[in-house]
Amino acid sequence: MMRKKIVAGNWKMNLSKDEALTLLKELQANFPSQNQCEIILCPPSIYTELALQNANSFNIGLQNVSDKENGAFTGEISASMIQSMNVEYCIVGHSERRQYFGDTDTIINSKLKQLLKHNITPILCCGELLEEREAGRQNEVVQNQIEKAIVGLSNAEIEKLVIAYEPVWAIGTGKTASTHQAQEMHAFIRSILNSKIGDASNKISILYGGSCKPENAKELFDSPDIDGGLIGGAALNANSFLQIAQSF
Ligand code: 13P
Repeated sequence: MMRKKIVAGNWKMNLSKDEALTLLKELQANFPSQNQCEIILCPPSIYTELALQNANSFNIGLQNVSDKENGAFTGEISASMIQSMNVEYCIVGHSERRQYFGDTDTIINSKLKQLLKHNITPILCCGELLEEREAGRQNEVVQNQIEKAIVGLSNAEIEKLVIAYEPVWAIGTGKTASTHQAQEMHAFIRSILNSKIGDASNKISILYGGSCKPENAKELFDSPDIDGGLIGGAALNANSFLQIAQSF
């Protein structure tokens, strides 16, 4: 079954306004005319308008959303605000948010529900820590993250998700999961989804993230269950990001 190929760039908390603008213009000027995938940019939310105006060939996503609807929640951004900006994607449950900002499985579940309610496609991140992989617990950890994230979602809602498998030990470390390790986990994730929604699980794009770069993207993306990538460091350089996006 055909499913969407996606390459998304997570800029994290990087770049000044001028640097962001330079990168956006470079990306826009070099937008691949024959790309095989959907390309999403997720700049810091303060640059959303800048991205919409200067890189309009790309889809735009945010890196986080509030689990609350609206109101007295200083510093937060709601799903309805994201929707009102015509932004179509939002990352949820990134390991950095789980690790440093207290995003629990329950909060991630509420964030997913907010996004789906406002018609924004969530890019749901999951992935094990190094010690969990060393203890052979990676499947159990990822299964638990996914099952808790999707509690209360209808089958139709689950079908709308994009999943990103990002082993924490591969993020920003230069250490990529081997193609075998990644494919194995992606197939496992699809089997979890299959047990919930059956064959519709074949429509869900599962992205790999963690030190993905032009040198390893093609081999990873050639695997049957790896439908693209969520790119950190390499997304801050127009050349390498676009090269990755053309690795199908
Ligand atoms: P790196 O590509 O820098 O390892 O980051 C991956 C990531 O966390 C994307 O969300």
